[in-house]
Amino acid sequence: MSSEPDRKYRSSAWFNNHDNPGMTALYIERYLNYGITRDELQSGKPIIGIAQTGSDLSPCNRHHIELAKRVREGIRDAGGICFEFPVHPIQETGKRPTAGLDRNLAYLGLVELLYGYPIDGVVLTIGCDKTTPACLMAAATVNIPAIALSVGPMLNGWHKGERTGSGTIVWKARQMLAAGEIDYEGFMELVASSAPSVGYCNTMGTATTMNSLAEGLGMQLPGSAAIPAPYRERGQISYETGRRIVEMVEQDLKPSDIMTRESFENAIVLNSAIGGSTNAPIHLNAIARHLGIALDNDDWQQIGHDISLLVNLQPAGDYLGEDYYHAGGVPAVVAELIRAGKLPHPGALTANGRSIGENCADRQIALPDVIKTYGSPLKEKAGFLNLKGNLFDSAIMKTSVISDEFRNRYLSDPNDPDAFEGRAVVFDGPEHYHDNIDNPDLEIDEHCLLFIRGAGPIGYPGAAEVVNMQPPAALIKRGIHALPCIGDGRQSGTSGSPSILNASPEAAAMGGLALLRTGDRVRIDLNKGTANILISEDELLARREELVARGGYNYVDSQTPWQEIQRSIVGQYDRGMILEPAEKYQ
Ligand code: FES
Ligand code: MG
Repeated sequence: MSSEPDRKYRSSAWFNNHDNPGMTALYIERYLNYGITRDELQSGKPIIGIAQTGSDLSPCNRHHIELAKRVREGIRDAGGICFEFPVHPIQETGKRPTAGLDRNLAYLGLVELLYGYPIDGVVLTIGCDKTTPACLMAAATVNIPAIALSVGPMLNGWHKGERTGSGTIVWKARQMLAAGEIDYEGFMELVASSAPSVGYCNTMGTATTMNSLAEGLGMQLPGSAAIPAPYRERGQISYETGRRIVEMVEQDLKPSDIMTRESFENAIVLNSAIGGSTNAPIHLNAIARHLGIALDNDDWQQIGHDISLLVNLQPAGDYLGEDYYHAGGVPAVVAELIRAGKLPHPGALTANGRSIGENCADRQIALPDVIKTYGSPLKEKAGFLNLKGNLFDSAIMKTSVISDEFRNRYLSDPNDPDAFEGRAVVFDGPEHYHDNIDNPDLEIDEHCLLFIRGAGPIGYPGAAEVVNMQPPAALIKRGIHALPCIGDGRQSGTSGSPSILNASPEAAAMGGLALLRTGDRVRIDLNKGTANILISEDELLARREELVARGGYNYVDSQTPWQEIQRSIVGQYDRGMILEPAEKYQ
């Protein structure tokens, strides 16, 4: 390529290709038709995409339609030209059967747009759970300069003087409805109170988690993730983000320069400190794979398990998104981790061209009850364990949510507080669970472990968030509000139950869960990191042969073409649940 200033950028292959005026004219003419001039398109200024994830279908991200105006002004003021375009919408709460199907579809679509159109750099408008990984995965694959912009959380929800948090209030309201403490109207009112403004979930669910981690990875401007959607600072950071992407294009600062193995290790530590969602390993492992970086669930245990929980947000704690922002957001948490010597790589580069340490080290915690110091955390060892055994090769567990009462009920040996045993009760998918949980023939008591299978990336296409299952009504009436739940589904980041989830390989991929039967004894040993059905090797082998003879584990049919396509090429959770053939495109 020539070094003339007007041919500096990738977009010049479309708009400034003097060797091929025929094609250049063809590329240019249609973009003129809404009023942009030829001078602008041929000025040699970088063309900046705004990957727009907001729409009426995706209310969590809808405010990005407003924010994009400020992004545009920032791009213009810094000397860029803006092309805004839609990303396949993803709404976590609105998509049937599950938004888990849409992350990879949005990824696929965005890769095509970034690759196939004259875009020199891109602002990724992130927010609702899977919009963040979808955008970062696409940026990783195409690897043109990219910066993320959070839409920000909703304002705090309030009901009768108490904070009501997204998702978390639904679990509570369901129990109140079941106990007859509220009626249908009261139920609807209570749940709706948690959504008082534009923005994404105000709890530490998957959205706040992934937006915080996008900042921790270095892909957003510092302090950007936690600003509530309606605040003036949200518009201001949108403007700054627009300005900054133009500079990033000039400096050719690419996702692969920012998202390195070091920044993923930082993000894993940050995830433990904020009490991040169990969906985070799936998404970060996916982004890493699209960059060619090795990252798996053993890394999550090794780097993240011992880190303490500092952020006191629902569901693990008391507060919500506005409080997180006023307490200092991600920079205050990172600063505390640096002071405690726990952030592994303070020198990791971020989108503003400075390291995460330079950006954050001198930040203070403004509300000490919302962000705790490392010396007096909310919980110790708040990260994930990666369990293995004849049930699965990998499954994630947050051990910090296990109560003593819980521990004692399943103790198999009084001298070993970390080994549990129970009788398995197995459900094949969420419908089977709902139809049978109160069936007395299953003899479910407080020493049972509830299993769900057929809920993974292949089995329930896209993977359903169904692992935390309520005990039978009879047990709830006796005061047993939770049983340990284990399965090849996911779990909502807004739920705080002690579960073993994201089991890989799933039953539909012939994982050990497919061999389990109701009545089997199962042993979980947290010290050894194991989860096993207590049957002989011979019995296990015989069950596997029988399963193969039956033609494998039986799962629900696909309802759409994409379900069928994704099922045929999707990988398992521990590998990021990505479209396997996509990995080689880097
Ligand atoms: Fe969209 Fe929670 S449902 S952020
Ligand atoms: Mg979710």
